[in-house]
Amino acid sequence: MDLGLSNDGVLVVGAAKGIGHAIAQQFANEGADVVLADIDSHVKEAANTMVENSDGQIQGVILDATDYESVQSLASGLAEQQHNLNHIVYAAGVGSNKFGFPFWELEPTDWPRVIEVNLMGAVNIAHAFAPYLQQRETGSILFIASIAAQMGSQTDPPYSAAKAAIVNFMQVVAKDFAPYNIRANAISPGMIQTTLNKSVWAAWNERQATADQRPYEEWAAEKISTICPLGRWQDPEDIGKMAVFLASQAAKNVTGQTINVDGGIIMHS
Ligand SMILES: NC(=O)c1ccc[n+]([C@@H]2O[C@H](COP(=O)([O-])OP(=O)(O)OC[C@H]3O[C@@H](n4cnc5c(N)ncnc54)[C@H](O)[C@@H]3O)[C@@H](O)[C@H]2O)c1
Repeated sequence: MDLGLSNDGVLVVGAAKGIGHAIAQQFANEGADVVLADIDSHVKEAANTMVENSDGQIQGVILDATDYESVQSLASGLAEQQHNLNHIVYAAGVGSNKFGFPFWELEPTDWPRVIEVNLMGAVNIAHAFAPYLQQRETGSILFIASIAAQMGSQTDPPYSAAKAAIVNFMQVVAKDFAPYNIRANAISPGMIQTTLNKSVWAAWNERQATADQRPYEEWAAEKISTICPLGRWQDPEDIGKMAVFLASQAAKNVTGQTINVDGGIIMHS
């Protein structure tokens, strides 16, 4: 698919693996210049592998998105390089690693890190890159939210709350950036078999009596057939494809929206 992104540049935060990596790959496939950022040092390897199959320039940087000073230095470093960055994707995320049902099974101390990474990391990125994006004639910012944002999911309350907050913040960003022709959107993935998803299963499994514990594959098969009308798991590539579409001119009138890529788990009227 040629979406006309070959002169564009993108920063994908949370790109060492999982959904963020698949998003970076889709931008690379489109020939865009891609900066992969992640707290995990494997991001460098991930970027090197991508270089081999892309026409765009690819670089990997280690970044803790919760550290505002580091985020600001990345923004000024890319400005110095005169990088053609005009799209940003925030895909970093963590859960509490605990099964949060009912909510009092968690402690208030389980909340700050989850809010810090899922919400404040995205806020840091938006602040640090706002002056940069404003100088572009066209561009976009995309936040990876979750269907958990839209249904008061009981699985991990701080995670759901952080994701709901990011959807709200995305709408503010969309309004404030609109006069600059910069669009902001969110994608809410449904169920994707990544490290993060496995941590949800692990937290659930730990809480079951020994006889009720299940291997991940069994838990996963039952879960998806129960909650997903299409009856299948989503893939990281599904999110990557939606991400490049939203960045492209094919979506030039789409802003302030949350697009669910979830096999129909959530349906809006
Ligand atoms: N997997 C799912 O089913 C699912 C469903 C809905 C939403 N999501 C969301 O999709 C996004 C990607 O999740 P995933 O499933 O690919 O998980 P993942 O664990 O595979 O990837 C998350 C990435 O974020 C990085 N990260 C964590 N903290 C960071 C920080 N402080 N700074 C920079 N990078 C950091 C991790 O190192 C990792 O590479 C997350 O926002 C997640 O909440 C996932």
